[in-house]
Amino acid sequence: MINLKDATLIGQGRDRDCYRHPEIATQCIKVSRRPQKQTKRERVYFSLLMLWERDTSHLAHYLGSVKTSLGEGATYELMLDDDGQISETLTEVIRNQRISKEKLRLMLDDLKAYLLDNLICVRDISPNNIMCQKLDGVYRLVIVDGVSNPGVNPLNIRLTFLARHFIRRSWRSLESKLSNLYAEMAKTSVKASSYPTGQSDMLSA
Ligand SMILES: Nc1ncnc2c1ncn2[C@@H]1O[C@H](COP(=O)(O)OP(=O)(O)O)[C@@H](O)[C@H]1O
Ligand SMILES: [Mg+2]
Repeated sequence: MINLKDATLIGQGRDRDCYRHPEIATQCIKVSRRPQKQTKRERVYFSLLMLWERDTSHLAHYLGSVKTSLGEGATYELMLDDDGQISETLTEVIRNQRISKEKLRLMLDDLKAYLLDNLICVRDISPNNIMCQKLDGVYRLVIVDGVSNPGVNPLNIRLTFLARHFIRRSWRSLESKLSNLYAEMAKTSVKASSYPTGQSDMLSA
């Protein structure tokens, strides 16, 4: 049993808390705050992707389940930069203006092509569920949440045209979340520029 009482809380989503594994520095443990099926769906889908020998290089790998002081936990590869820091989410990278909008567009186009080529379905692609791992000064995008059948029909993940339909649908939802994020930043930037010390160039990229 792993005691999570003093473990570092890395992030919280709608359903789960993500802790740094107290014994294995390269792993994280997710525990659900309320009963939900997301972890089980991810576990089943991930084992199918492995069985089908799909390229999982842009997914945080599921590593098994563990008993914790907060109930059942699921262990995943922890996304770390090469300086040992926990990678930032895409939301943080955009807010902190680490990557220009143009560069990010190319990276997102590549990620979308990767999902479509490998028929990897994601239930809910959001900038909070994509980590930007920085290695040798270069960012790469890794999806850490929601990689699972987007519905209940087993054919969704088995038939190419259905899988692609759901990938495109999730992708549209990601694009709208990104537009909202940039719009929110533009508003903050306008407000900040009305002060002499404000940073008004937030969205120049
Ligand atoms: N593999 C990971 N490596 C590093 N950070 C992670 C990883 N998985 C999740 N996180 C962080 O924890 C947060 C919550 O985890 P997530 O799986 O998205 O929970 P939920 O299913 O409730 O949305 C994420 O938004 C991210 O900040
Ligand atoms: Mg999430």
